[in-house]
Amino acid sequence: MKLTLERAKELNRDNVTQEHLIIHSLNVCYAMGAMAKHFGADEEHWMAVGYLHDYDYEKYPDEHLKHTEQPLLEAGVDPEDVRAILSHGWEICTDVKPETDMEKSLYTVDELTGIIQACARMRPNGIADLELKSFMKKFKDKKFAAKCNREVIKKGCELLGMEVSEAARICIDGMRPHAAEIGLQGTQG
Ligand SMILES: [Fe+2]
Repeated sequence: MKLTLERAKELNRDNVTQEHLIIHSLNVCYAMGAMAKHFGADEEHWMAVGYLHDYDYEKYPDEHLKHTEQPLLEAGVDPEDVRAILSHGWEICTDVKPETDMEKSLYTVDELTGIIQACARMRPNGIADLELKSFMKKFKDKKFAAKCNREVIKKGCELLGMEVSEAARICIDGMRPHAAEIGLQGTQG
């Protein structure tokens, strides 16, 4: 059965409870919707996988993705979707290499959305008028949002056959309409 966003939210409900982790799930969810649109894929499906991707992180931060496969399969999540979730930890905490466009996108946007969020949070108008040019400047500044791994983003974009700037544009466009929900309305509001 296709994973819906509603089902992903249900599965996360007792497992992802901290505000900043919920917001991260939403960031990735909306970025994945935009990536799906770019690839002509099923937007809601990719959004649902994006929303669910850090299912075990809050409870097992030191064993991330080790407590994902079994419970999600038991909950009826498609093995393909579970594989996609595992692949976002490729070479970090799993050895599942991203193969499909959905997997490569998830691997990339997990980190990419973090930098977008950090950029938008500093701006008076938040993400509303965040331009690609200022994003790329911050992307190149390794001290900015230093926890977001640029190498992972570059590797993901290479897998996707996409420039970092293109992936960033897609994600920013995907996140922008949801500014209020993801707390990116800016410092003015
Ligand atoms: Fe994540």
